[in-house]
Amino acid sequence: MITDLRPLRFDNHSLIILDQRKLPNTETWIPIPHSEALWEAIQTLAIRGAPLLGFAGLIGVYFSLLETDNEPDWMNRIDILRSVRPTAVNLASEVTKAVRILSGISEKQQRIDECLRLIKTAEADSIKECESIADYGCSLLQDGDGLLTHCNTGSLASIGIGTALGIIKKAYFSKKNIRVYHTETRPLWQGARLTAYELMKCEIPAVMVIDSAISALMASGNITKVIVGADRIALNGDTANKIGTLSLALSAHYYRIPFYVAAPTSTFDTQLRNGSEIPIELRNQQEVLMCGEKKLAPSATKVWNPAFDVTPKELISAFITELGINP
Ligand code: MRU
Repeated sequence: MITDLRPLRFDNHSLIILDQRKLPNTETWIPIPHSEALWEAIQTLAIRGAPLLGFAGLIGVYFSLLETDNEPDWMNRIDILRSVRPTAVNLASEVTKAVRILSGISEKQQRIDECLRLIKTAEADSIKECESIADYGCSLLQDGDGLLTHCNTGSLASIGIGTALGIIKKAYFSKKNIRVYHTETRPLWQGARLTAYELMKCEIPAVMVIDSAISALMASGNITKVIVGADRIALNGDTANKIGTLSLALSAHYYRIPFYVAAPTSTFDTQLRNGSEIPIELRNQQEVLMCGEKKLAPSATKVWNPAFDVTPKELISAFITELGINP
């Protein structure tokens, strides 16, 4: 059974989230009562994953409407919200789409009501999109497949069963005989902390490898397909995803292993011609220098810490979306 793992609850106009910074050690639910708390939760990855960021963005629009009485103040909050995490297009695009609709309504309470309606619709749509991605993805899998995935792309990253991990979960529960491998995903350990936790909750057996073991794992012959998610896909198919995805794609190409990207169509950014135009989020070097309280390298060590990389289209075997395979 696919466990109902929900990363947030927006009921009775209030938001509580499962604090993903604390997983897997504690399952802590925290209230997010206003915009500032939401921006902080997004920035620090208490809420994360492209589709979930899009949904959280809509709730941010709702907070910003409650908190402001004039257009410039509202826009100010919207601009901050849109830019908290710059690579995942779903955040900015969901916010922009909602603002466009809401700007056509002059009365404040009507705007708020419409925003609540948009949130409800987005929730239902997202659940269906994930299911559809999983169905199309499963059609590419065979008994005996060894699947490798990266970062966390499951229920903790979306509203629904997820994208790449959603496919893996659905395949397992539809009794496909698959073996599951995932990376640790340095530096914030989304694979170790979140994917391992999600797979364990679903009782799906899996093997974790350190990020630098992926080529050796492929060389061992255990991997027959790689499936990852995406944060932004340019018009030509170049794909930004969690740092390390490019290494996976390059190794998969060398070993002639199909490399699939699973994402809702809302992750495609048709405004950008190719991957060189995708903004890449650079994060604090402390994330690499420290592991919690523990120092991993001398404090003075210089670090380059991009949160994402771009995989060129040529390395991608197919895109799996809610509309089909390479729709
Ligand atoms: O920094 P994160 O944890 O938000 O990065 C998440 C990823 O890179 C995921 O692969 C991507 O957002 C797709 S989630 C379905």
